[in-house]
Amino acid sequence: MGEAWSIEAIRAAMPAVRESVYLNTGTYGPLPSIVLEAMRATAEREWAAGRITLENYERIAELKHAARREVAALLRCRPDQIALTRHTTDGINLAVMGRNWQAGDELVTTDMEHPGAQGPIFNVARRYGVIVRTARLGTGAGDSVHAVARCIGPRTRMVVLSHLTWNTGALLPIAEITELAHRVGALVVVDGAQSAGSIPVDVIALGVDVYAIPGQKWLCGPEGTGAVYVSDDALDQLQLTIVGYASLVQGAVEPIGGYLLPKPTAERFEVGGMHMPAIAGQVAALRWLREELGYEWIFGRIAQLGQTARRRLEEVPGVTVLTPPDRMAGLLTFTVDGCDPQQLVQALARRNVIVRWITHPYAIRLSTGFYNDESDLDRFIEALLDARRELASAQETVR
Ligand SMILES: Cc1ncc(COP(=O)(O)O)c(C=O)c1O
Repeated sequence: MGEAWSIEAIRAAMPAVRESVYLNTGTYGPLPSIVLEAMRATAEREWAAGRITLENYERIAELKHAARREVAALLRCRPDQIALTRHTTDGINLAVMGRNWQAGDELVTTDMEHPGAQGPIFNVARRYGVIVRTARLGTGAGDSVHAVARCIGPRTRMVVLSHLTWNTGALLPIAEITELAHRVGALVVVDGAQSAGSIPVDVIALGVDVYAIPGQKWLCGPEGTGAVYVSDDALDQLQLTIVGYASLVQGAVEPIGGYLLPKPTAERFEVGGMHMPAIAGQVAALRWLREELGYEWIFGRIAQLGQTARRRLEEVPGVTVLTPPDRMAGLLTFTVDGCDPQQLVQALARRNVIVRWITHPYAIRLSTGFYNDESDLDRFIEALLDARRELASAQETVR
């Protein structure tokens, strides 16, 4: 971590984390001040100088390049393998919709996926008669490779799964599953919504074909930003579903009877205009994380705080942590005996502690961000005990 950035300085640079006990980066990360400044400066420049100046066109192209370069540095690939998107779900959609599906083709997924992956899968199943095989992984604590392997067969054309699951925060063995999938010629599409910015990701070492990420969660960027890695193989195999001027080679465009060729890079999956203040904010966030704080430090701190949160939770009688201990990072899911998760989350919010409940399994989920500290965990545990007392006494009154 850079000298200038003590935890206190980081927390001062992210005001939202001092407003509440902020333990829900898995939904939205807190915005660093530098992101606000970048967004404001871009919006003001557009407002004052206009958006159609020559300099602005150049600035737009450079900002988009900068965003792709930053994402490539994060995922350890080439910038030309990155397309900018609006969110994780965009990236998963363009991959799942990009296969030339025939009725009876098979797609393998797991029972731990977010609707952001379930939606596109459901869509191709209904539209093209794709057969979906779902590996039952439960909490992700068992032999996930074996469970997925049992679903893969000669007709499997795609495997879609999370790197870090949104429900129990379990890390899935992506490299091993990718190897099995590639043996039958299937593409592997990874939902990186909870892994990007929370654990090290090397898409080349993992061997995956598509890796979709958001900007607004662990990477602390603005809403409406995301990116997707597309491997060279996948670029050859995936068709375009939504196409626009940003997808095409400019020089080949002719009004009538000309050729409209997809760009030779992953940029072909971009479609049209983007909200440049948001892209400026995304670049500012990624630069700050990489240059000022350092990803290695960030990943280490998230993992260490995750372990501390787990230990603290396990000391509370009646708490059951569902996250597999040996496959976790900064997402923790738990239940508290006798407490309804939704009511408990609301009771915690009344105590200024921000976590969320999830439905499958019905439980509470907290995220430890790099900006959290031990005092956040102290306040969380204190609030949990207090909230539990409140819910118990409310139940007594009802009886
Ligand atoms: C695992 C996972 N996938 C996808 C999504 C959807 O993300 P986005 O809003 O970036 O599409 C989420 C959001 O919570 C998630 O946790």
